[in-house]
Amino acid sequence: MKFTAVASALLCANIAAAAPGTAARREREVQRSINRRTNTLQPAVGALELPNGNGTAHVEYSSNWAGAVLIGTGYTSVTGTIVVPTPSKPSGSSSGTYSGSAWVGIDGDTCGTAILQTGIDFTISGSTVSYDAWYEWYPDYAYDFSGIPISAGDSITMTVTATSKKAGTAVIKNNTTGKTVTHSFSSETNQLCEENAEWIVEDYESGSSLVNFADFGTVTFTGASVNGGTGVSGATIIDIEQNSKVLTSCSTSGSSEVVCSYTG
Ligand SMILES: *[C@@H]1O[C@H](CO)[C@@H](O)[C@H](O)[C@H]1NC(C)=O
Ligand SMILES: *[C@@H]1O[C@H](CO)[C@@H](O)[C@H](O)[C@H]1NC(C)=O
Ligand SMILES: *[C@@H]1O[C@H](CO)[C@@H](O)[C@H](O)[C@H]1NC(C)=O
Repeated sequence: MKFTAVASALLCANIAAAAPGTAARREREVQRSINRRTNTLQPAVGALELPNGNGTAHVEYSSNWAGAVLIGTGYTSVTGTIVVPTPSKPSGSSSGTYSGSAWVGIDGDTCGTAILQTGIDFTISGSTVSYDAWYEWYPDYAYDFSGIPISAGDSITMTVTATSKKAGTAVIKNNTTGKTVTHSFSSETNQLCEENAEWIVEDYESGSSLVNFADFGTVTFTGASVNGGTGVSGATIIDIEQNSKVLTSCSTSGSSEVVCSYTG
């Protein structure tokens, strides 16, 4: 991907200055833009039934993104609420560490320059489940929010807002208490296009390979909207396919819900 050289250069340039708290995150070379398969639009062999039951739904496959993407113009605010899932080791897989992310974002699909995104990572390692909440203006790294301890079952609202193509905010709100954490970006070098809005469950990269993808059960983005109004109607549905196996089943429900289940 075209970002790899940029990301690597940033990694080299910044690593000496990394604060201890961000070291772990920086080990994870964050390549969050979509890796589209070359044979998109074709259901994989053995693929699950598509949402319209007819094999012609606008579903595409990716090695790392599952969810819904709107492609348009002037997308400056994207929001969605999830109940934090409990990840588990996929059945039949060996012991180890399994992870994934759930996030909302602007750009990352057809826009080739930047992504503004915020969300959570979930990990199960042995029997220990952990979470962190982060914000990112790709191709810079993702950074952890502090002060918002995430637990399974929490209702959290994730919102990104672009105040210009070079500035904006990432906000995660505890939907139970109303408490928020916010990061403001200003004068970013890499500009947004404001042409993609997305609600994504991701198998993210660490180092140069994808992390083992956790069974996340079901993640439902409720209250999914763009620019405070328009919902998810017309979004392209993306499912994760790896090694010819489809691992997720995503769909939209009504005008403001995106539902993704792990099916691997
Ligand atoms: C199946 O696909 C065809 C061709 O796109 C379309 O005309 C038809 O309405 C679809 N049927 C259903 C049940 O979605
Ligand atoms: C949200 O608030 C509830 C109630 O205080 C708390 O139990 C939960 O841990 C909080 N979650 C987050 C993500 O802040
Ligand atoms: C936020 O939490 C409240 C109380 O649990 C719930 O009624 C509401 O639907 C939640 N909001 C969203 C957008 O899910």
